[in-house]
Amino acid sequence: MTLEPDSDNDNFFWSGRFQKPPHELFQQLNASISFDWRLAPYDIRGSIAHARMLSGIGVLTAEEFSMIEQGLGRIMGEIARGDFVFCLADEDIHTAIEKKLIDLVGDAGKKLHTARSRNDQVATGLALYIQDQISQHLAGLTALLEAVLDRADAGRDVILPGYTHLQRAQPVLLAHHLLAYFEMYSRDFVRFWRALDAAKTMPLGAGALAGVNYPVKRNEVAAELGFDRPGANSMDDASNRDFALDYLNAASILGVHLSRLAAEYILWSSQEFGFVEISDDFTSGSSIMPQKKNPDACELIRGKAARLAANHLGLTSLMAGLPLAYNKDMQEDKIYVFDTADALLLILPVAAEMTATLTFDSSRMRRAAETSFAVATDVADYLVGKGVSFREAHRIVGRLVRQCIDEGRMLGDLELPELKAESPAFDAGFYQVVDLESAVARKQSYGGTAPEQVAAQLKFAAERLKAMRETVASLSP
Ligand code: ARG
Repeated sequence: MTLEPDSDNDNFFWSGRFQKPPHELFQQLNASISFDWRLAPYDIRGSIAHARMLSGIGVLTAEEFSMIEQGLGRIMGEIARGDFVFCLADEDIHTAIEKKLIDLVGDAGKKLHTARSRNDQVATGLALYIQDQISQHLAGLTALLEAVLDRADAGRDVILPGYTHLQRAQPVLLAHHLLAYFEMYSRDFVRFWRALDAAKTMPLGAGALAGVNYPVKRNEVAAELGFDRPGANSMDDASNRDFALDYLNAASILGVHLSRLAAEYILWSSQEFGFVEISDDFTSGSSIMPQKKNPDACELIRGKAARLAANHLGLTSLMAGLPLAYNKDMQEDKIYVFDTADALLLILPVAAEMTATLTFDSSRMRRAAETSFAVATDVADYLVGKGVSFREAHRIVGRLVRQCIDEGRMLGDLELPELKAESPAFDAGFYQVVDLESAVARKQSYGGTAPEQVAAQLKFAAERLKAMRETVASLSP
């Protein structure tokens, strides 16, 4: 977009009190039009609802309202087609649209700003924008949850080592591992849902800060725009950006969760792990090394976590210490919000599609579990069953592991006499204990990795996903 400086003093809505136009450099500093043009559809929706209400209370005639409504519709069309000419003196999208409206419909357009300030106007546009983005993120999250759940469901019988400190720890089902991500992303869903509720309080009607000198019908305007309620305090309405903070916070935490999934895919797709192959769709090659297949999509998703967190921190810092009510600092709020929305709209579908198209190598996973001491805890618990205290059992098994490492053997390779030499409590039942299936099957605690527990988790997840889908469907216009 090219912006022309405008030195015609009459071009400023607020020029009456001034003797000369602002310095060109200040115009550049002051203008947000280069980024807030993205609020245009929301600003126009807000203006139409405001104008309808003004006609209801007699500030506009029915004819004036209809001119305004048509004029705004035409402006929307021009902006959508890219025909709208923006200039620097417009300052922001609100002024640009209003000026154009006055060009188009004359005196009726000059009445639109009655009982309204850009302060309540911009907060309303931003809240509507955020509502729209959240609806899309909720849909994106359900697609990701569906992909995760599908892959988990198919991994009911696949055993791999679960890790702590990135060291093989205990055998788990692949379904169980993936369902951990289902839990994470379903919490994200709830977090965005709450942020959506925060964005459902309407600032419009607050005026500049004190309320307005007209009998405005805030409930009617709120209902038309899809808000749940008008704000209860006009000073708060003009200064509140908590809904944007809630949005950026939800996005920041989702960014963390996406980065963790991406990091696992990166590890798992390495030759060292070899647990998965990422589809060619989401990998790239090297310009020098012909053999390379790099998990760039995962790395970029992981990298976006920094940006999503920074955007939350950016708006937090911007708002901290601001006195009531509106301050021009707040004009910069949108930069963080737009950047986060753009990032999420890109990475959520990529994460979902990449998950849906992964190829798992279940025999590599199983081999990693077999060639580790992942059942050592189970052996200790087996000794506890024979009357040995857990601390003593832990020490005995630790010594056996040490012996195996020294001799290049696995626990299951140990002969019964060797075991009995460490503790008389050992018997032939030991050989069942070191079996991976049986180790998994014993994790019967609620939420554990035993197949029955995982089946219950899958069922519970499917029920919640259904409810989330219904929520998303109820949001689409
Ligand atoms: N462009 C401004 C913003 O984004 C709109 C509100 C301006 N209000 C004012 N009193 N100057 O915050």
